[in-house]
Amino acid sequence: MHRILIDTDPGVDDALAILLTMKSPELRVEAITTVSGNVHVEQATQNLLTILGVLELSEFPIVAKGEAQPLIKPLVKAEHVHGEDGLGNISKLRNSDGSLRYPLANCEISTLAGVDLILEMVDRYSEELIVVALGPLTNISRAIQKDAESMQKLRSIVLMGGVFREYGNVTTTAEFNIFVDPHAAHEVFNFGIPVHIAPLDVTHQVVLTGERLNAEIKGRSDKISCFLIESTQACMEFYREHIGFYGLHIHDALPVGMLTHPAFFESVDANVQVETEGNLTSGMTVADLRRERQGTISNASVCVQVESDTFLNHFFQRVLS
Ligand code: BDR
Ligand code: CA
Repeated sequence: MHRILIDTDPGVDDALAILLTMKSPELRVEAITTVSGNVHVEQATQNLLTILGVLELSEFPIVAKGEAQPLIKPLVKAEHVHGEDGLGNISKLRNSDGSLRYPLANCEISTLAGVDLILEMVDRYSEELIVVALGPLTNISRAIQKDAESMQKLRSIVLMGGVFREYGNVTTTAEFNIFVDPHAAHEVFNFGIPVHIAPLDVTHQVVLTGERLNAEIKGRSDKISCFLIESTQACMEFYREHIGFYGLHIHDALPVGMLTHPAFFESVDANVQVETEGNLTSGMTVADLRRERQGTISNASVCVQVESDTFLNHFFQRVLS
């Protein structure tokens, strides 16, 4: 069993990742912190409560609101991909009696700032705690700045971010999570604790089509099934218009799978650096992933391959269980 803290900017694929995490008996989620990214942190925190509401939990992890702004750059969001509210505009949906279709979970938000909750969790669980980072790395980097000694005790960070051998999804060279806060990513990658990365190169290998989702949900009317269909629709339409297929990539679910089922994934060790300055390349992740170059100093392990069908089957089996 892994004890984890999720740091997230929900986000449609963050929601899918959180559902998968909560349905994974190998993981014990002690806390969840939110951060600005896909949407502003205020909305991200509301969205987290919506997701926890869908899960109908009897006990909640500790939840805290994190940083509103990246370390240096102005915030860039992705509402054009994830919908105005970040969850495909499901917050507007109502039942026939006028009540909210997706009410917020009755879960208290901690009075601690996200950064302080991260530090408290690291102190409480020391070498046991793994951070699963699904958004820009602002909270993690601020926690390092505030108390590096405590953060050195973290067991590892598993994150979705970066791109190496493909085009980026914000600019030609940058992936969204790293683009939003490249200075934070630079700090986290060079901090010296184990970092495991699921970059776009590998998240793009898992394609969830609208057709597949409909087939999985057919005949079901439970809350999670309705949420899967309704929260992903706007995002799938964005993909149809801009990416060329009706569906989406479930990016943030991959680091969760890397933790619970490492055998589905293949990674290489590499020295990963982040471009923080370039006019054209801000947020670019730079690393030599050639196997013959293994053995040079590395600061991260980068996932390069996933058994995509196996992982997608596993995702549905768990989330719809
Ligand atoms: C990443 O960016 C966000 O839009 C997604 O939630 C994911 O974390 C993919 O580049
Ligand atoms: Ca995310």
